Amino acid sequence: MAREIRTVGVVGLGAMGAGIAQLCVEAGVETVGREVSMGPAEQAQDRIAHFLTRKVEKGTLEQGARDAAMGRLSLTTELAELAGCDLVIEAIVEDLGAKQELFVQLERICSPGAVLATNTSALSVTEIAAAASTPERIVGMHFFNPAPLMPLVEIVRAELSSDDAFETAYAFGVKLGKRPIRCHDTPGFVVNRVLIPLLNDCIRVLDEARVTVEDLDTGMKHGAGWPMGPCELVDLVGIDVHVHASEALYGKLREPRMAPPPRLVAMRHAGLLGRKSGRGFYDYESVRRDP
Ligand code: 3HC
Repeated sequence: MAREIRTVGVVGLGAMGAGIAQLCVEAGVETVGREVSMGPAEQAQDRIAHFLTRKVEKGTLEQGARDAAMGRLSLTTELAELAGCDLVIEAIVEDLGAKQELFVQLERICSPGAVLATNTSALSVTEIAAAASTPERIVGMHFFNPAPLMPLVEIVRAELSSDDAFETAYAFGVKLGKRPIRCHDTPGFVVNRVLIPLLNDCIRVLDEARVTVEDLDTGMKHGAGWPMGPCELVDLVGIDVHVHASEALYGKLREPRMAPPPRLVAMRHAGLLGRKSGRGFYDYESVRRDP
């Protein structure tokens, strides 16, 4: 039932889109990355080149395989160049209106058989698909940050997703070397439904227990077995992304734990967005930053 995917389009080449494009080219799939202008597109290409070169340096990838992977990536600012894609994965800003408009354009541009996926973290896939005239081919493919390293991808079935589109997305997750899981389109899907309130609790504990950021992170790493502390993790995901996801889930579920802690909202207003802005709970200006 799953269709073969030879060419993929990735719309939006921020941290998530670049990571998804990296996975696609490494899996041997021709990939067209689309950004609004060439500057951010080339930055994403440099980022992918950097991580693949690191793999060569560490002996986990052959130089020839690295070059072939980079050769499979093409960049564009024209959405029309996604016309030949069998699957398009959207990773643009978390704005319902912007996503709805994009999917309406994509369904006009892409062939009727193409599957269209959103990487939304906290918006409803069904609502994103609501403006489209072919909602049956729209599904969620929710990757985790950093996409090249995190094994999970949630394959999200919206109300009108066809079995065919859903299974095609699942099979493509497997092709990327991921561990996909199937779920329905409910707020936060599976992992964020649990992780977002948990991270918000962690941030509230900072003030309640008067613990330092470093000690809270040490506590969760060494007492709960987390691979990184909650403050490090929110810095990695982005304070703005996390606050937006919290607001979206709170708006849908009305559970107090979903609401973003005021401390995080203040950090967002102050531009302390984590790694991407150079400062969040930690200072990244003084350490080497990822390209
Ligand atoms: N893209 C591609 N490659 C990357 C990368 C990235 N963003 N970041 C690092 N790498 C590569 C690097 O080349 C690095 O090697 P180098 O430092 O020698 O160059 C290599 O991967 C290994 O990196 P690390 O040594 O940092 O790897 P670790 O073993 O420390 O693991 C981790 C890193 C996988 C991030 C681990 O700390 C972890 O699992 N953290 C938890 C992350 C998590 O929970 N993510 C989910 C966030 S929630 C989310 O995404 C939902 C969304 O909707 C908001």
